[in-house]
Amino acid sequence: NYYAVVMAGGVGSRFWPVSTPEFPKQFHDMLGSGETLIQKTFKRLSQLIPKENILILTHQNYKEIVVEQLPSVDEKNIILEPAMRNTAPCILYAALKIKKMNPDAVMVVAPSDHWIEDELQFVANLLRTFDVCEHDSILMTLGILPTFPNTGYGYIEFNKLDSRPIKKVVQFREKPDYVTARKFILSRHFLWNSGIFVWSVNTILDAFSQFQPEMMELFERGYSVLNTEKETSFIEANYHKAENISIDYAVMEKAGNVYVLPATFDWNDLGTWGALYEKLPKDNLDNAVVNAKVFLENATNNIIRTDDCNKTVVVDGLNDYIIVDREDVLLIYPKRKEQDIKKISKSVEDMI
Ligand code: GDD
Ligand code: MG
Repeated sequence: NYYAVVMAGGVGSRFWPVSTPEFPKQFHDMLGSGETLIQKTFKRLSQLIPKENILILTHQNYKEIVVEQLPSVDEKNIILEPAMRNTAPCILYAALKIKKMNPDAVMVVAPSDHWIEDELQFVANLLRTFDVCEHDSILMTLGILPTFPNTGYGYIEFNKLDSRPIKKVVQFREKPDYVTARKFILSRHFLWNSGIFVWSVNTILDAFSQFQPEMMELFERGYSVLNTEKETSFIEANYHKAENISIDYAVMEKAGNVYVLPATFDWNDLGTWGALYEKLPKDNLDNAVVNAKVFLENATNNIIRTDDCNKTVVVDGLNDYIIVDREDVLLIYPKRKEQDIKKISKSVEDMI
């Protein structure tokens, strides 16, 4: 009864110039490990879920990349979206398809671009949540102990008197502003949302009916053609009509039956070059080097990456920089301004 939905349709624009709308971050080997992030995600999930029950959802432009990177996935398990509508429509579509295959299914929804190394704990945590969601009509998320007021995450307030491992969520707040995030962290009863959700198909479909009735109606109209040859034309004609909204705003902030299991594995969403830097091995002056030969003098705390492992990068007198070389772009940017990369990537790509 266990299914997985891998969400692989985002564009990862803060990782420019490596991640681009044509070839986003989840399809890159960001860690220099020999595997791309989606390959690692798939491997992690297949420890616990049979391959035929793992669906990959992505924009149709990325079909060839997915086919190439996950050769063991049957093409019918690669579900294509004709428009980018964020995660709520993608999850609803997947849940309806899975329900039709197996009305008692419990599913995990996982991002395709995160760093999780401890597969044993990951599997143990998932088993725990699957077990609960088989019996209880609840929406579960894996929570992460927060370390700083990151405004790019969802925050989960749990009941501080609840000593059970799975805790009732008091409030779910997606991407609060800095002052609020800081207040949340200081109060000590908040966790970050990892973006990994577990629920039965029935529970999440009930939540969509309640909180996103229009979206539910739109997709339900095509229920009878799902998993048949008529599905593609229905989706082509209707998918773009769905509201562009993430599951966090569409459902998680609104639902009352949300529970959290604090994760027992280390997690990093590799959201920015700085987050990636944290997870990479460093030299004795704290430089992280991926796919490059380097000759460094007076250079500390930099992240250096090229597309061509035969290229030698020579740096003197530069600290706390991101140095990323792509065939047609060379980025040399201060780490502290990493959030601006998203913005400048647009202007630069328009220019070149
Ligand atoms: N199939 C598909 N279609 N996948 C998508 C789409 C889409 O339209 N949009 C995004 N994704 C994928 C991304 O590739 C990523 O793997 C995942 O869905 C999450 O999307 P992000 O765009 O990365 O979300 P976020 O980082 O802003 O926020 C989410 O993750 C945080 C943790 O990393 C939220 O769930 C936050 O609450 C959470 O803290
Ligand atoms: Mg993300």
